[in-house]
Amino acid sequence: MAQLEPPICLEIEDLGVILDDRPVLRAVGFQLRRGEIVSIIGPNGAGKTTLFNVLAGRIRPQRGRIRYWGEDIRGWAPHRICRAGLARTFQIARPFAEMSVLENVLIGLWFGKSPTEAVLEPRRQALELLELVGLTHKAETSAGALTLSEQRRLEVARALSTRPQLLLLDEIAAGLSPQAVNQAVELILALRERGLTLLVIDHFLNLTAKVSDRLVALDQGEIIAAGSPSRVIQNPEVIAAYLGERESRGDEAIEP
Ligand SMILES: Nc1ncnc2c1ncn2[C@@H]1O[C@H](COP(=O)(O)OP(=O)(O)O)[C@@H](O)[C@H]1O
Ligand SMILES: [Mg+2]
Repeated sequence: MAQLEPPICLEIEDLGVILDDRPVLRAVGFQLRRGEIVSIIGPNGAGKTTLFNVLAGRIRPQRGRIRYWGEDIRGWAPHRICRAGLARTFQIARPFAEMSVLENVLIGLWFGKSPTEAVLEPRRQALELLELVGLTHKAETSAGALTLSEQRRLEVARALSTRPQLLLLDEIAAGLSPQAVNQAVELILALRERGLTLLVIDHFLNLTAKVSDRLVALDQGEIIAAGSPSRVIQNPEVIAAYLGERESRGDEAIEP
């Protein structure tokens, strides 16, 4: 008997973005089903963050369609998209540095709730999220004093505080120690256990092989490969794109 596939959470079709007269995304299209973990990989400047900015409503695409649970969300304002259950983290963490870690999460819990929609026991909920990301012991620390790895985890807790169904994670493992990367892997898998659908940007291929169901490889704004992680990582065009980056930037070795 054919197994019933989960419903489509996100469907992108023929997405095109031009910034400063330059095409940054071209004919980008893929789908994400409920509960999937899909990673976007590709060299620096490929357009990964721009794709997130489009999905989160910060950049308006010139062409294409974006459907979230079947609804066309193209052109929606960022707060409306967030309230609909699509949240993102930023590549550069943006906490309120003067406020405590706990307060940073509390803000998200209040965001977007109508006056009649009371947030029950916000402090307990915020502490629960901090426990999930492993920051309970830092609850009263000011956010500005966190390490890089802790900042990333606070970003995730803040995004979760808006109660998303689809979470976009932008390079949460970049620059972390191998041990911290493993913690990030565990966190992502725990998020899926909670029923979230995840779209993850992973420039240095730190997480992808371990957590992703599928990869989408971008280069110069175009999808050059998509499919199972092992196949995409071995795709000659993908390898060439990363080698090109290393040559042009004199970068450190890539860690597949
Ligand atoms: N707001 C913007 N205005 C003009 N160009 C931009 C803007 N944001 C990104 N770009 C350009 O778009 C390209 C893709 O950038 P980005 O999406 O940040 O790549 P990635 O996240 O894959 O490294 C880059 O060439 C970048 O310079
Ligand atoms: Mg980026």
